Amino acid sequence: MKTLLVTGGAGFIGSNFIHYLFSLNGENLNVVNVDKLTYAGNPLSLNDISNRFPENYHFEKVDIADYDSLDKVFMRYNPDIVVHFAAESHVDRSITGPKEFIDTNINGTFNLLECARKYWNDKKDVLFHHVSTDEVYGSLTDEGFFYETTAYDPHSPYSASKASSDHLVSAYYHTYGLPVTISNCSNNYGPYQFPEKLIPVMINNMLESKPLPVYGKGLNVRDWLYVEDHCRAIWTIITKGKRGETYNIGGENEIKNIDIVNTLCELMAEEMNEEKEYFKNLITYVKDRPGHDWRYAINMDKLKTELGFELSVDFAEGIRRTIKWYLANKAWMDNIKSGEYLTWIETNYSNR
Ligand code: NAD
Ligand code: TYD
Repeated sequence: MKTLLVTGGAGFIGSNFIHYLFSLNGENLNVVNVDKLTYAGNPLSLNDISNRFPENYHFEKVDIADYDSLDKVFMRYNPDIVVHFAAESHVDRSITGPKEFIDTNINGTFNLLECARKYWNDKKDVLFHHVSTDEVYGSLTDEGFFYETTAYDPHSPYSASKASSDHLVSAYYHTYGLPVTISNCSNNYGPYQFPEKLIPVMINNMLESKPLPVYGKGLNVRDWLYVEDHCRAIWTIITKGKRGETYNIGGENEIKNIDIVNTLCELMAEEMNEEKEYFKNLITYVKDRPGHDWRYAINMDKLKTELGFELSVDFAEGIRRTIKWYLANKAWMDNIKSGEYLTWIETNYSNR
């Protein structure tokens, strides 16, 4: 039986990934979720898994920036595969306070790599999969795409810290022969996303009849991917990917922010039996993000042609599923909106 050490499994994509793993093959896997439970981690997201698979699912509340604790986890569980999601992940927070991004994203990744190098010294059939972002490539104009070969040009403290971690992972492959794969993915949406990112901020504010803050003119473009497709793509890379390689993952779905917000307003009005224009009246243009990247768009031909991956959930379907999930899981949203969340909303939006 393989043991997977999943970091950041209590966060948005990590918890979706653990659900995906157990839906595939729950009885034949051992999953260790290593998570510090920052503001973004919610153990509630995996309650169902820990109840259904008490023998196969293990939780360790550990900070990856703390090498000694991480070392003990490796010694105890002896993992075969590391899937590394844990990160500080929000661009706006990296602008107001970059230090945690350096501690977790750079030093935390370094600690994980060191543990893998130490414990996998003489092991074959092991893998370190590093989950990263397309933001390491910088910003596109209205033309072109990010390829695996695009030069790194990160613009925010978040993307700079992720770029550093990608380089470290790649260096451990070239220097020590550590078996690694890296994926660089576009913007995800779906269940369990913390209400600081565009789509859940909008859904949450509509539920509370609060202004819907659109940065600048709302014309920036992101390439939106349903989180379940991201999880399937990661599993495809883990099982079929070539060691030492990077794979881009996108949604082939470029949308301007304002178009996303308008769509959400219409669908939420439909779900909640409100007038069509009710939520649109809450749209409020606010001061732009400093250094706001204009456009992200992924070319994912490598993943499709070399590993046979295909997307399965289009935006029309994914966004409906997402809205229905948030409406059915208000307790999850209430639970995650702690005192820290209220402080963040106050600091991020009060001066815009
Ligand atoms: P998230 O912020 O929702 O979750 C991050 C998780 O990591 C949380 O559970 C948190 O408690 C945990 N964590 C943070 N610091 C930690 C530390 N020091 N030690 C242990 N655990 C820690 O993030 P997400 O959106 O799920 O993103 C997961 C990964 O995917 C990140 O590496 C991110 O860079 C990458 N990514 C995200 C997106 C996106 O659209 N969300 C897109 C591409 C790549
Ligand atoms: P976000 O979800 O923070 O992801 P990222 O910055 O990593 O792409 O933001 C997505 C886009 O939405 C980005 O262009 C910024 C914009 N945005 C808003 O207009 N309003 C908001 O309240 C948030 C959180 C983001």
